[in-house]
Amino acid sequence: MLAMYGTCSCLLGGILLLQLLRSGQALDNGLARTPPMGWMSWERFRCITDCELYPNECISEKLFSRHADLLVSEGYAAAGYEYVIIDDCWLEKDRDNKTQKLVADKKRFPSGLNALADHIHDLGLKFGLYQDYGTNTCAGYPGVINHMKLDAQTFADWDVDYVKLDGCYANISDMAVGYPEFGRLLNETGRPMVYSCSWPAYQEPAGEMPDYESLKKHCNLWRNWDDIDDSLESLMQIMDYFGKNQDRIQPQAGPGHWNDPDMLLLGNYGLSYDQSKLQMAIWAIMAAPLIMSNDLEAVRPEIKAILQNRAVIAVDQDELGIQGRRILTRNQIEVWQRKITPVTKNGYHSYAVAFVSRRDDGAPYRITFTIKELGLKNPNGYAVQDLYDSSRNLGVFKKSNQFVTRVNPNGVTFYKFTAQ
Ligand code: GLA
Repeated sequence: MLAMYGTCSCLLGGILLLQLLRSGQALDNGLARTPPMGWMSWERFRCITDCELYPNECISEKLFSRHADLLVSEGYAAAGYEYVIIDDCWLEKDRDNKTQKLVADKKRFPSGLNALADHIHDLGLKFGLYQDYGTNTCAGYPGVINHMKLDAQTFADWDVDYVKLDGCYANISDMAVGYPEFGRLLNETGRPMVYSCSWPAYQEPAGEMPDYESLKKHCNLWRNWDDIDDSLESLMQIMDYFGKNQDRIQPQAGPGHWNDPDMLLLGNYGLSYDQSKLQMAIWAIMAAPLIMSNDLEAVRPEIKAILQNRAVIAVDQDELGIQGRRILTRNQIEVWQRKITPVTKNGYHSYAVAFVSRRDDGAPYRITFTIKELGLKNPNGYAVQDLYDSSRNLGVFKKSNQFVTRVNPNGVTFYKFTAQ
């Protein structure tokens, strides 16, 4: 009996150890210690595949190699933007007949993905690729479901550094097992690849609550909610989702594992100058991946300056990786706040604080808060700096002091409160 028990526990221990090792592999691939930054095709270029009609916009090796070049020549790479990510519509409609391998569209990617990856890597950048857990991608190209091991290996062979795995044409109830499985297969190739998962964005609308412990274990980032579109309305809808669900979502973020509210819209058609500052500030507060989707050749200088604002990027990339929250709303002015470095010897954090106006009544809106109302409690106070105008130091504020700001309609003001 004893001997049998011994054998059983040993067997059980072995299985547990194996599982632990497996999940351990997936848990920490050492990547995305700060939210990933880069450029991705979907929001701006969608599924444009007619290269004769739209030679500069179609999903093709030209588009990605042009944008890799622009990331460097326009100064984005120096500001931290690193990943060049192909979204949907890069595939042939069929797998290779003999090998069953995925095939990149032969007309639009004539040099093959290895050549594109080489070009991206030669520039000091990293290469990302989209696929889908189901039978098909959202745009109808072949998905990974029946070829997971082969596809993971193909990605590694193509020198991919980042995988976005979407969830169209799949059983939502299989995702909790299937996504970790694909992550494990990616890890088993031995090539480190950032793993971006979409399963919560499919589970939640279907009424299933995402298992965040599993997400943190298996994915470097995950899409929580709807796709972003090129409008203030879409942006606000996503911000509201994160604000309303923050108790559940905010604690999940940290080095190596991030919530993903989707791409940056800056540089496109839908957002004004003020609204562009707003998205950038709130994405920094949310410790969001900063993945642009725009035509980098067409970005106006003042929008480029927002995208490359080092002080705002530093908030997004803060080493503590603590996601921020919407802490109060008054007179349609929302206050969003994030704990950042430096932290004082007594353990008081510094903060990034954004004031977002949901107002449209013309003039900039003047509003006053006490420092205490902003949730800032350090007895020695805070030195305040305007993050959109680094030359503007506002002085030191203590608990009982009043803080006045003036926010443009549908705009933002954004400050760093450095604990003294
Ligand atoms: C889904 C994703 C988008 C994009 C498209 C591509 O909608 O959420 O980000 O990848 O599919 O078809």
